[in-house]
Amino acid sequence: MEERKGFGSNFGFLMAAIGSAVGLGNIWGFPNKMGANGGFTFLIIYLILAACCGFIVMMGELALGRKTGRGAIGAYKVLSKRFKWLGWLGVLSAFLILGFYCALGGYCLKYVTLNVGNLFHAGFGTGTLDGAGVFGALMANQGEAVIYGLIFVALTMIIVMGGVGGGIEKVCSVGMPALFVMLVICIIRSCTLEGASEGLKYMFVPGWALANGVIKEAPDFFSVVSTAGGQMFFSLSLGMAAMITYGSYLDKKENLQKNAIIIVVMDTLVALMAGLCVIPGRFALDPTGKLGGPSLLFVTMQNVFDRMGAAGPIFGILFYLLVVFAAVSSSISLLEAVVAHFVDKARDEGKGDKRKLYSLIGAIGAGILCVIVCLDALGNAGISPADILGMRVDPSDKVPTWSADWLDFFDCIAEGILMPLGALLMSIMYGWELGPEVVHAEATCEGQKFGAYGWFRICIKYITPLAMLLVLYGQIKEFFF
Ligand code: PHE
Ligand code: NA
Repeated sequence: MEERKGFGSNFGFLMAAIGSAVGLGNIWGFPNKMGANGGFTFLIIYLILAACCGFIVMMGELALGRKTGRGAIGAYKVLSKRFKWLGWLGVLSAFLILGFYCALGGYCLKYVTLNVGNLFHAGFGTGTLDGAGVFGALMANQGEAVIYGLIFVALTMIIVMGGVGGGIEKVCSVGMPALFVMLVICIIRSCTLEGASEGLKYMFVPGWALANGVIKEAPDFFSVVSTAGGQMFFSLSLGMAAMITYGSYLDKKENLQKNAIIIVVMDTLVALMAGLCVIPGRFALDPTGKLGGPSLLFVTMQNVFDRMGAAGPIFGILFYLLVVFAAVSSSISLLEAVVAHFVDKARDEGKGDKRKLYSLIGAIGAGILCVIVCLDALGNAGISPADILGMRVDPSDKVPTWSADWLDFFDCIAEGILMPLGALLMSIMYGWELGPEVVHAEATCEGQKFGAYGWFRICIKYITPLAMLLVLYGQIKEFFF
C-alpha cells in the first residue's frame, strides 16, 4: 500500500498551521471587533479564552489527528463511539467557509492588480482610486468578481493537488515569512502617519470608541464574551476539521504542546499586528471610513492608500498581496480538510493516490459556493437570509445585522454556531467519553513533555465546555432574538 505522506519538518508544519490560522479573521475581524467591544477589555477576555479554550482545543485536535493518522471524518470514526459523525460536521463547516473565503480572496487579488495598474498610472501623476468607487464598480461588475473568485479557487486547488509536503508546506514556508515582513513594513507606514494615535486609542483604551461616538452603544458582557469566543475559534481554525487534518500529517516525534502554544501565540500576535496596520491608517487618512465588515478592507483601506500620495499604490500592492497570502494559506487548509478523508479512504481501499481527483471535486464544489456569494444571486433577487428564516414578516421589524447579507450569514453560521458547537462536542468527547489521558498519551508518545496537562485536564472537562455553552448562548441569542 502507498505511504501517507506528511510534513517534511516541524518548521513546515508550523508555517502551514500558522498559515491556516492567520487569515482574513486576523486582518479585518479582530481589529474591528476589538474596537467595537471595549478595546483593551476585549483583548483581556480574548486572551483568557485563548488560554482556557483555544490552547485546549488546539491540543485536542492536533492529538486527535496525529493519533489516528486520519482526516477529521476518519479520525472521529476511529476514536469515538458516540461522536463518530462529528468529523462530518467539521467538513461541512470547512466547506461553507471555503465558499465565502474564496470570494473574498478573489476580491483581494483584484485589488492587487488594481494597485499595480495604478502604480504605473500614478507614475504619470494622475491615478486616483477611491475605495467606494472601486468597490462599487466591482460589485456592479459581478462577472469580474466571479472570475477573480474562481482564479482564487484554482490557486487553492493547485496547491492542494501538490500534496501536503510538496504543495502546502512549500508554499507556506515561503509565504508566511514573506507575509510577516510585509506586515511589519505596512505597520511602520501606518503608525507614523499623522493622526495615527487616535487609532491606537480606539484599539487600546477601554471605552474610548464609545466616549468619542465612534460606536453608539455599549456592548453587554455576554455579547463581548460570545463575540470574542466566536472570533477566537474562527481565527485559530478550530472547532472544525482543519487542525485535526494538519495534526494527522505531523511526525510522532514532534512536541504537540510546544506547537500548539506557538500557533496560538502567533495567531494572536498577527491579529494585534494587523490591527496596528489597519486601524491607525483609517483614523489618519479616512476618519469617517467604516470599521467593520468587507468595507473595512475594500473601501476604507483603499481610501487610505488613495490618500497616501505617490507611495500609495506601492503600499496598496504590499497590503493586498499580504492579504492574499494570508487568505490562500487559510483556504488551502480548508480544502485539505475537505479532501483528506476521501484521499485516505481511496488509499486504504487500494485505489491508489486520488488526491488530484478529490482536490478537483472539492474545488468545483467550492467554486459553486463562491459564485453564489459573488453573484449574490439571491440577494439581488431581493431574498435575504432573514426572509427565508421568516424574520421579515413586517418590513419594519428590526432584524439582526447578519441577516441582510448572504456572506454575513454563512460567516455567522460557521463562526457563531458550527465552530463553538464542534469544540463543545469535542471537549465532551475527551472530557467525559474517552478521558483526557488519551491526549496525554498521544502528546507524550515518544517521551515529549506535556507540562500543562493538569491545566488541560481541568479545562477540557469543565471550563472549556462551560465557556463554549456561554459563547453559543450569546450567539444564538443574537441570532434569533
Ligand atoms: N483562521 C482563518 C482566519 O483567521 C480562517 C479559517 C477558519 C481557516 C477555519 C481555516 C479553517 O481567517
Ligand atoms: Na486567524
